Amino acid sequence: MDGILKDNDISHVVKADKAHVWHHLIQHKPFETNDPRIIIEGKGMRVWDQNGKEYLDAVSGAVWTVNVGYGRERIANAVHENLMKMCYFANAAGNIPGALYAEKLIEKMPGMSRVYYCNSGSEANEKAFKLIRQIAHKKYGGKKTKILYRDRDYHGSTLAAMSAGGQDERNAQYGPFAPDFVRVPHCMEYRKDELGLGHLSGRDFGIAAANQIEDVILREGPETVGALCLEPVTAGGGVITPPEGYWDRVQEICQEYDILLHIDEVVCGIGRTGTHWFGYQHYGIKPDFVTMAKGVASGYAAISCMVTTEEVFEMFKSDPTDKLDHFRDISTFGGCTAGPAAALENMAIIEEEGLLENCTAMGERMMGNLKALMEKHTIIGDVRGKGLFLGCELVKDRETKEPVDEADIAAVVADCGAQGVIIGAANRSVPGRNNVIAFSPALIATAADIDTITNAVDNALTKVFG
Ligand SMILES: Cc1ncc(COP(=O)(O)O)c(C=O)c1O
Repeated sequence: MDGILKDNDISHVVKADKAHVWHHLIQHKPFETNDPRIIIEGKGMRVWDQNGKEYLDAVSGAVWTVNVGYGRERIANAVHENLMKMCYFANAAGNIPGALYAEKLIEKMPGMSRVYYCNSGSEANEKAFKLIRQIAHKKYGGKKTKILYRDRDYHGSTLAAMSAGGQDERNAQYGPFAPDFVRVPHCMEYRKDELGLGHLSGRDFGIAAANQIEDVILREGPETVGALCLEPVTAGGGVITPPEGYWDRVQEICQEYDILLHIDEVVCGIGRTGTHWFGYQHYGIKPDFVTMAKGVASGYAAISCMVTTEEVFEMFKSDPTDKLDHFRDISTFGGCTAGPAAALENMAIIEEEGLLENCTAMGERMMGNLKALMEKHTIIGDVRGKGLFLGCELVKDRETKEPVDEADIAAVVADCGAQGVIIGAANRSVPGRNNVIAFSPALIATAADIDTITNAVDNALTKVFG
């Protein structure tokens, strides 16, 4: 750590950042008096900032991305080797790591068969949306163009992805949005009163919540609805795990009305939920499209994938004499070999180190620790999650479930930061519901790491709420 600070004039870096970098997501006014945080180095689960302060990163690069941890030499070496051999050629032609990664990925996804490379989660979702629209034209004479998305889900920052965005504070001031994106209700059991389903629980609730999707389909007209796009476990919208029975019924509804199922695995994909490679695999779902990004190469290179079935693929080569028949789409950097080269190593690390299993075991430990904190802190209304992907919903009163103020959530995050633990939180996403603190440590987390994180949360809750 000292080495890197000595080799660089850090005060110059801070000055250049303050003068010229527009950071993601945040308000910059405070940087007129304070310095932004600059992350200088990372190793394993830990990162260091410009002041040399060490943090245990409980959110894998702030947005659930660095699944195999920082400083993996073998990923960097594989990227280096591939870039030196063949850095880039448009993906209308193939490349070695691209072909090999597609083969490996499809091995993990029974029922799926084709991988389309692009660079971000938003972009992967846009590719699926375009295919869904093209299918509506090719197969249904321009009908079935509607794409359903769910309240509180998020699918990206580009305009079509935001048109499918279920988080109104994220969308505010960026409209108007693209037509034919239609919202369906969320499926959160803790807030079932909002859905008018307060009298139901367990499987009955899950089925009734899925039936609310059917209500929307019937209202819109099934002949107009082409696809349903859902996160397997909602991430930024509040870490919402699906209720029992929900996914079985969703699948039935899609089959009944001939609706394609697009699963957004941008957060859940590549091991985040433990045991399985993908979130949807916990629920027996048979998707038509799966999109993934963050954990694909753990942030070592920019890569996302839109994966689909052979049935969908076949539709796009049915008439070679028709110049509009195929998928007329490109992602320039989908032809860079750094992404699939990093993704291949990332997958090998997860397999060789048993990280899917570790994720399940450490996720259970963390869930146990957080549930124990519920006994002590009545401010915790609900604890949810799957694998190393967890959240605590904080409420002023367990009976009324009135959310705590967003400022108090920020205070908890700041206090954990002061203790040297970086945690996450839903913020400026769902109006009145930005009251969830979130955790997504790297899949390499140890029991000691998990306990350090939950101890920091315990201290922060005591400090902020007494
Ligand atoms: C579920 C989900 N889908 C899509 C995206 C968009 O990914 P990206 O920021 O890489 O465009 C995100 C980003 O947080 C996400 O959480």
